Amino acid sequence: MGKVVILGVFVADTAYRADRMPKMGETIMGNSFALGPGGKGSNQAVACARMGAATHFITKLGQDDFAKLALETWAGAGVTPHVDQIADSYTGAAHIFIEEKTGDNAIIIAPGAAALIDVEMVNAHADLIASADVFVTQLEQPMDAAVRALEIARTAGVTTILNPAPAAALPEGMLGLCDYVTPNETECEALTGLAVETEADAAKACDALRSLGVKTPIITLGEQGAYLDGHGLIPSVNAGPVVETTGAGDAFNGGFAAALSDGNTPEEAARYGCATAGLSVTKAGTAPSMPSRDTVENMLRSLG
Ligand code: RIB
Ligand code: NA
Repeated sequence: MGKVVILGVFVADTAYRADRMPKMGETIMGNSFALGPGGKGSNQAVACARMGAATHFITKLGQDDFAKLALETWAGAGVTPHVDQIADSYTGAAHIFIEEKTGDNAIIIAPGAAALIDVEMVNAHADLIASADVFVTQLEQPMDAAVRALEIARTAGVTTILNPAPAAALPEGMLGLCDYVTPNETECEALTGLAVETEADAAKACDALRSLGVKTPIITLGEQGAYLDGHGLIPSVNAGPVVETTGAGDAFNGGFAAALSDGNTPEEAARYGCATAGLSVTKAGTAPSMPSRDTVENMLRSLG
């Protein structure tokens, strides 16, 4: 596997399962609670490192117990952290509501110290970014930092992946810095204005993303799989009963980036991404549910 550098956010995921969401002003009893490591960038780094890539993660944390959770998580997964710990801020946290019956989720993210990730921090890690085979970022940290990092990577000839999540409008020109953009249906609509449900919709949205400057769009379609521009639908991998879908997109991106860094074709890498995602949803949590390279490769072999 190659070297992957990821800029993004860690948050402590606080996941509440309940039969329904409370209405405003109402308090309801939940069914369970779990605390675990999350945040899109960190989840992607964990997935990528578990796949065997030399994975570096750039972020900011506070100096609190959730920061300890972050550092332990990365040590356990083999992620090399490049972290500023800010004394007068806090480590980010996410409130995750999971609907018991469907497993669907609704999330509030408070990024804390990670909201202070800035161009200065990115510039301080320019050599690291330029040394990567693949660079990955998302939209949980400030936009200008993401743009700057993509510029550095692009100038150095590093393959760039933007996971445009959570959904947001992007500054002009940002998509032109991206080799791969990996929105889900909602994020794709935010970028293109086109609703995506079917493969044919995905093909049209890919045309739109390409005309905005993306080299190769990949639209993740949940249980359908991922639509790779120029290739078509890579089917999802059913690895067992679904326990929690939160973080499935991160699993896809981490597996995809790791496989790409190793010289796989985009099609092969998307298959790794789909297998990583399919395995992750069979386990609770986000980062803790990322599968090892052996597990992913056994799954891919069993599919033939
Ligand atoms: O993509 C899933 C992640 O998004 C969760 O871990 C949560 O922290 C939110 O940031
Ligand atoms: Na999971």
